[in-house]
Amino acid sequence: MTPESHSLTDRDPADDAPVPPPGCPAHPLGPGGVRRLYGPEAEDLGALYEKLRAEHGAVAPVLIHDDVPMWVVLGHSENLHMVRSPSQFTRDSRTWELLRSGRVKPDHPLTPHFAWQPICSYAEGDEHLRLRGAVTGAMSTIDYRGLRRYINRATQSLVNRFCDEGRADLVGQFADHLPMAVMCEVLGMADEYNDRIVHAARDMLKGTETAIASNQYIVDALTRLTTRRRTQPEEDFTTHLVNHPARLTDDEIREHLRLILIAAYEATANLIANVLRVILTDPRFRAQLNGGQMTVPEAVEQSLWDEPPFSGILGYFAKQDTELGGQRIRKGDGLLFGIAPGNLDPRVRPDVSASMQGNRSHLAFGGGPHECPGQDIGRAIADTGIDALLMRLPDIRLDCAEEELRWTASIASRHLAELPVRFEPRPPQDVTQRPALRPLPAQRPGWLITTDGPKTTEPAAGWPLPPESAARSTPTASAGPSQPGREPHRRPGLWQRVLRWWRGE
Ligand code: HEM
Repeated sequence: MTPESHSLTDRDPADDAPVPPPGCPAHPLGPGGVRRLYGPEAEDLGALYEKLRAEHGAVAPVLIHDDVPMWVVLGHSENLHMVRSPSQFTRDSRTWELLRSGRVKPDHPLTPHFAWQPICSYAEGDEHLRLRGAVTGAMSTIDYRGLRRYINRATQSLVNRFCDEGRADLVGQFADHLPMAVMCEVLGMADEYNDRIVHAARDMLKGTETAIASNQYIVDALTRLTTRRRTQPEEDFTTHLVNHPARLTDDEIREHLRLILIAAYEATANLIANVLRVILTDPRFRAQLNGGQMTVPEAVEQSLWDEPPFSGILGYFAKQDTELGGQRIRKGDGLLFGIAPGNLDPRVRPDVSASMQGNRSHLAFGGGPHECPGQDIGRAIADTGIDALLMRLPDIRLDCAEEELRWTASIASRHLAELPVRFEPRPPQDVTQRPALRPLPAQRPGWLITTDGPKTTEPAAGWPLPPESAARSTPTASAGPSQPGREPHRRPGLWQRVLRWWRGE
């Protein structure tokens, strides 16, 4: 294919005819007849990507806010080639010609997405190895069995907050909370987890007028943690990061903790909300889970194909003149890593409704040197949390019409605003129950997940609860609804006490 002779950087803006403002329905295109990735046409980004694919193929010219030209990479293999070729493409935005020349202003609305920072996401070569090595070294100390146990307990605590009400918003009361609760524990600041930090993270990502204060709230918590771990080491991620032979400075530690907390929080919250929405609204999905043809981890993987938690990464930048997907890319050009359109490339998915079971080659976690190092943690939170939620509330059903669901979307991600559900009210459970020192049980066929069907107050079959918690979880147990406050106080047995000491309770 002969490269298209489109150039992002050579055009003199003075040559352009007057450009109608974005939003003018009579002029959906920007300067040079290029489509805008913002404004009315971009309200359905998925449809816009398909239009661009039909018009240009695997790599298309677009305009981002302020009509700044970029390439969007739509092809699966072209995206993989870009992220896996550090000699040709970098994440270091200081090489972006339009930024160097001042065409992109520091107050550009998407600056938070591309502004260079001294963290591994933007680093290259030896510096990238040093910073990322410290992060992956600290991650390698995580005990996944203990992590899953913690996720399960955190899920039970969250469900306890609303289970006796018979209704909940699974975004605001579950998906937005679970990753933050787990990441605060992983980092070693479980005491910082509360509604305020969840609110601060969400507020910061929304970019509201209080976003700066919210960011400061999180930075302050991470600064306190870094200082504490220098003098009081513990068996946690932050201590391992502090003690890593790469010898990160306090600023580097704080900034990497922030990266991890926010990246993990946002992506995993989106993933959980996306999977739960599909379970509640797609009868095909639900039937496969109910019938045991699909496990929760497989449902999560399918969601990573269909609705990747980060839909695009802004950006990658060309280090030299090159060619990608039939387009001539100039040194200094900016490219949007198109995760969502790459996952829908007809060359890898000729039928998008077909199941991708067993195929993990989606782009949701990126690829190449910057491939997400936290993907196993993200998967563990989503798999275990969703599984445990469905076990507690097997009869959840959507409490609004599917068409009423709303999202907040940006070029980088799409966040479900609310997921209202109803279920039969049930009493809270004891979350200090004995941890299961055994692998997760196999998928159970007994779920009753329905948007309008039968309701049940019975716990789902097949989950081998310890006898005492099984009795507590049965609302019809003769002692009546058991609530934490009403439990007869018994001195825990020796085994319980040893375990509580071991868990640091
Ligand atoms: C479902 C959950 C998650 C998704 C979908 C996700 C996705 C991604 C993606 C797409 C990238 C960027 C790749 C690139 O720049 O080309 C990334 C980078 C990163 N992620 Fe995740 N992530 C998730 C969870 C996590 C978690 C739980 C952690 C930490 C515990 C984490 C830590 C990081 C870090 C440190 C980077 C930067 C790596 C580098 O630049 O070398 N992520 N992630």
